Amino acid sequence: MKKALVVFYSMDDGTRAIAEKIASAIKADVLRLATISKAEKIYYQHAESPDRVDDLEVPNGETRYIWGVESVDMKEIPDLENFELDPAKYDLVIIGTPVWSLSYAPPLNSFFNKVSLEGKKVAFFCTHEGMIGNTFEAMEKKLGSSMVIDAIDFQNVSMNLEPSLKKAQDWAKSLITKI
Ligand SMILES: Cc1cc2nc3c(=O)[nH]c(=O)nc-3n(C[C@H](O)[C@H](O)[C@H](O)COP(=O)(O)O)c2cc1C
Repeated sequence: MKKALVVFYSMDDGTRAIAEKIASAIKADVLRLATISKAEKIYYQHAESPDRVDDLEVPNGETRYIWGVESVDMKEIPDLENFELDPAKYDLVIIGTPVWSLSYAPPLNSFFNKVSLEGKKVAFFCTHEGMIGNTFEAMEKKLGSSMVIDAIDFQNVSMNLEPSLKKAQDWAKSLITKI
């Protein structure tokens, strides 16, 4: 039987909800990318005043948005928590991200640098609030010779949860027929 892996990053759980629905629809394994908070603190220290660092894990509110946008602009490669799953062992790797600053979230930079998906079938999904920019193009560029078999976006997931989950489920089932 063909094996699929869903890899994703999610800060506020919208992408997580979609990822988990995709995985359960096709019995895929799941790898949630988690950044090490120390790296976030160090990043924040560069971006803002050092004396606020001790209070923060991930910044809150508007500051958090600015922090995220800057981390995209600076092509951040945050340290990730170690993971055991090996994407090379799967027939299909489905990669999900929130859209940040019209692109993918920086923890995916770390993932792309860490693993090789050469020659592998991959599919992308993203969640966003209306503007996906070049998210998928940028991901494809990072992957080099992988074969991108499909890509799909989900807008305003928390406001459209049930339809979004249905869309995710249908998409996942259609993907499986392509590998
Ligand atoms: C730092 C940051 C940057 C964002 N940039 C965009 C953007 O460029 N376009 C957009 O449509 N939504 C943008 N959003 C909204 C998120 O893409 C959207 O809320 C997403 O579903 C969040 O996923 P999550 O709940 O998995 O973290 C941004 C959110 C954050 C925190």
